[in-house]
Amino acid sequence: GMQSAGKLMKVFITRRIPQEGLKILSAAGVCEVSQWDSDEPVSRADLLKGIQGAHGLLCLLSDKIDAEVLEAAGPNLKVISTLSVGFDHLAIDEIKKRGIRVGYTPDVLTDATAELTVALLLATARRLPEGVEEVKNGGWSSWKPLWLCGYGLSGSTVGVIGLGRIGMAIAQRLMPFGVKRLLYSGRTAKPHAAEVNGEFVPLDTLVSESDFIVVSCSLTPETQGMCDKSFFSKMKPTAVFINTSRGAVVNQEHLYEALSSGQIAAAGLDVTTPEPLPTNHQLLTLKNCVVLPHIGSATYSTRGVMSALAVQNLLGGLQGTDMPSELTL
Ligand code: NDP
Ligand code: DGY
Repeated sequence: GMQSAGKLMKVFITRRIPQEGLKILSAAGVCEVSQWDSDEPVSRADLLKGIQGAHGLLCLLSDKIDAEVLEAAGPNLKVISTLSVGFDHLAIDEIKKRGIRVGYTPDVLTDATAELTVALLLATARRLPEGVEEVKNGGWSSWKPLWLCGYGLSGSTVGVIGLGRIGMAIAQRLMPFGVKRLLYSGRTAKPHAAEVNGEFVPLDTLVSESDFIVVSCSLTPETQGMCDKSFFSKMKPTAVFINTSRGAVVNQEHLYEALSSGQIAAAGLDVTTPEPLPTNHQLLTLKNCVVLPHIGSATYSTRGVMSALAVQNLLGGLQGTDMPSELTL
C-alpha cells in the first residue's frame, strides 16, 4: 500500500542475487533496500554496519549470523531470510530468543541438488576428471584393459545418510541404475522410504555394507565430524564416499588418510571446510578425490526460484503475514 518514505522498512541484502527476487522486492514498494552489490562476500565489518537498524536481512550460507550480528542490527529486526535450505550458519537459539522469524528455501532446490549429487557420484566412481586430464596430457596411449577402471551402480548397495527431501530425491534417481539395496540412516525411519525400498539401518551397518555412501543430512551438533577415522575404517576398501551436505560433517584429515592409504576407494565432495578449500589443501593432491565448489543448487532456474522465494519470505516477515517457507524455530 501507500507508505511515506519515512516509514519505509529497511532491508539489507548481503550479496548480488538473481533479478527474480529483486523485481518482486521493488514491486512491493515497502522497503528501502541496501545491498552488498558484489559477487564476493560482504566483510564482517560491512555486514555489522549494513545491518544496523534493519527490519529485514536477506543473507547467504556464507554469512555467519550470530549474537554479534543480531546486536548490531538492533531491535527493529523482524526477519532473516536465507537464500539456502541449510541454516547451520544461523544461531537459531539467539534468533528465537529475540522473536525474529526465519525464512529458507526448501524443496525448490531439491531436484537440482539431487542431480548434481548423481553427477558427482558417477564422476567420482568412473574417474571422469582423471580421464579428461589424461586425454589432455597425452596419458591416453591406447585402449587398455586395466586402465581407468572404476565402480558401477548396477547390483550395488547404496547407503544414504539423511533420507530427507534431497536424500530421497537422490535415492529415486539412483534406483533406476539397478541398485540392489538402498540403506538409509537418520534419527527416525521415514514412511516415504518404501517408494525406494529403503531399509532403515543403524549407521554402522550402512557404513560397512554400502558400496556407495551418500551424505545428505543437515549439519547439526550430532552430525558434525560424523565421518571420521572410525567411520572410514568400517567402509569397504572398494566403496565410494560422496558428500553434498556440509563440509563439517567430515573430518577431512581422517578422510585424507583413508583415501591416501587405500582404506576407501574414492571420495566426491561438493562441500568442504573451509569454503573455498585452499588450493594447496592435501585433498587436492589426490587423484581419487573429486572436489566441486559447492554447486549443488547451481542451475539458472533454481537460483532464480530461490531468489524469488527468499524475497517472498522476507516480505512476509516484514509485513507480519505468512511466509511461503518459514522455518519452525
Ligand atoms: P531435510 O531436512 O529434508 O533433510 C535432512 C535430513 O538429515 C533429514 O532427513 C534428517 O533425518 C537427517 N538427519 C538429521 N540428523 C541426522 C543424523 N544425526 N544422522 C543422519 N541423518 C540425520 O533437508 P534437505 O534434504 O532439504 O537438505 C539437506 C541438507 O543438504 C541441507 O541442510 C544442506 O546442508 C544441504 N544442501 C547442500 C546443497 C549443496 O549445494 N551441496 C544444496 C542444498 C542443500 P531425521 O529427520 O531422521 O533426523
Ligand atoms: C543450501 O541451500 O543449503 C545449499 O547449500 C546451497 O543451495
